[in-house]
Amino acid sequence: MITKTLLAAALACAPLFCTAAEAREELQPTGRFSVYGHGAAATPPMGWNPWNAFRTEVTQDKILSVAETIKRNGMQKAGYRYVNIDDGWWLHRREDGGIQIRTTMFPMAASKSGPPSLKPWTDHLHAMGFKAGLYTDVGRNVCSQAHDAHSPNLPVGTTAQREIGLEGFEASDLATMFGEWGFDYIKVDACGLADYGQGSMAQVSGLYREARPLIVRRDAQQSDADKVETMYARVGRLLAEANPDNDFVFSICPWGEANVGTWGGRHGNLWRTSPDIEPTWESMLHNFDTASRRELYAGPGRWNDPDMLAVGLGEFAAEHMTEARTHFSMWTILAAPLLVGFDLNHATPAQIALLSNPEVIAVNQDAAGNQGRIVATDGAVQVLVKPLAARGDRAVLLVNRGEKGVRAGVTATQMLLNADSPLRARDLWQQQEIPTADGRLEFTLPPHGSVLLKVSGAPATGNDVSLGEITGRIHVAVDGLDGYSAKPAEVSGTPRVDVTPAGQPLRIGGQAQARGIGIHANSRLEVRTAREYARFSALVGLDDSSAAGKGKVVFHVYGDGKPLFTSAPLGRGDAPARIEVDTTGVQVLELVADAGSVQRTTPVVVWADGRLR
Ligand code: GLA
Repeated sequence: MITKTLLAAALACAPLFCTAAEAREELQPTGRFSVYGHGAAATPPMGWNPWNAFRTEVTQDKILSVAETIKRNGMQKAGYRYVNIDDGWWLHRREDGGIQIRTTMFPMAASKSGPPSLKPWTDHLHAMGFKAGLYTDVGRNVCSQAHDAHSPNLPVGTTAQREIGLEGFEASDLATMFGEWGFDYIKVDACGLADYGQGSMAQVSGLYREARPLIVRRDAQQSDADKVETMYARVGRLLAEANPDNDFVFSICPWGEANVGTWGGRHGNLWRTSPDIEPTWESMLHNFDTASRRELYAGPGRWNDPDMLAVGLGEFAAEHMTEARTHFSMWTILAAPLLVGFDLNHATPAQIALLSNPEVIAVNQDAAGNQGRIVATDGAVQVLVKPLAARGDRAVLLVNRGEKGVRAGVTATQMLLNADSPLRARDLWQQQEIPTADGRLEFTLPPHGSVLLKVSGAPATGNDVSLGEITGRIHVAVDGLDGYSAKPAEVSGTPRVDVTPAGQPLRIGGQAQARGIGIHANSRLEVRTAREYARFSALVGLDDSSAAGKGKVVFHVYGDGKPLFTSAPLGRGDAPARIEVDTTGVQVLELVADAGSVQRTTPVVVWADGRLR
């Protein structure tokens, strides 16, 4: 049952648990682009995190020596700015409520005059030209306490003293970390909400207070997504207050659970879409798949996070450069955060060159902030296209996920480019131009191999901007789902570009629609038009995949909260309605598909060929 707090208005409720009135309210235009809007993450954060290299056996010296290496080997100049501390830095919570730092691990934090402080640490990193990151948990206890029971560096003392997570101390901990200690980045984990339930290893150990799990891993129905969202939203607000200069990053870390994929962008700058990455090809692909169909959720200031880079580890180590390059290219084109996780003191020149390739990094850091999206899947081959800020420029990745060599191609149409105009293409790893012919590019890809390109041409829609070219300006305010969305994205109904939520081609009234957004009805999309466009046009209707007799949908377009267009009620099989509205001076366009009463599964609708001019 959703609790009515002050916050409730800002939260999307899961329709099954909403009253009809609450669900209706969410379809009302707000006139706002309602993403988090705080923090310094206009482009995906880049940096280094010690967890996958050292786990809790981390020390000040180990981190510093990697930081010095990053500075020396050119990676800092290439963009790696955040040097983070992960789990393991705490000794216990003091009587006065503060956190005692483990000074054997961070001698720099020891102070003769008062409690230990990490200010000298952040000062040191800042003087080196870095930003400093820290780690905590949204619950009372943290991940290492539940999962690294043999670590020599777990918090000590009484049960209460070992509660070093944020819960109950949110305001004071965050004020200390940012106001006093001067951190610039925080990763807020969620084990405290997941792993301390009755019968869990942590609870059975008798060392920790039992906590009813708000997150039941891999089970969204048993999880209390609203409560989890409310707790992270609070952290997001406190962080904004604690950082008047806005120079901070908020990383939300519930590993894709509790529907974080749908609400992360309202409360933070990045959110994990998956479990922890393992340094295996299979795990890397799995994590990629949790983010790769979520292009409508990412944009400047808010990023899908399939976890840190495994480059340098296991199946991506120095003897696996093909895999390392492909993995890095996949994260790059997804506009995923680029946090390296291996001990760079042991990096080979080839690994450093890989991680520092300026043209590849530029794709990830492109100002438009569009997440690359899948335009083709054919056997083991996937093709992703990421429209770049310069009109007509696209980053393109062709990847072979399989174990056999394959041929793979991409067409101008798939790149949203005009097939009759000349194309220019550059191989970003080879750093050289490549010939193009007949509006199609073809390659042979070895097993696990890939090609990353920058292609320039004439946009397929001429002077009109297609919505598919500006996904970074779109926010899914209400997804029209029924709260059962923590399944893999392919079956969950995630709104998508150019396909239905189930991944099928778009069709309205028997007619194929090459371009459009497929989304369930009872949804609301926000488009940040920022007064840059004079007209919006589209065709709207029910997708033919909608179940027959699912009722009618009314489509609305609003400009800064004012109605611009309302359709007649449309049913499945009806011809699409044409939208053509004046958007002069409009900051935020809202696209609402209203299916009336709350239903468990609403019809799939299509905003076909949406264009701004
Ligand atoms: C969780 C996170 C990891 C890491 C560990 C630390 O598993 O997902 O990235 O921070 O906790 O214990």
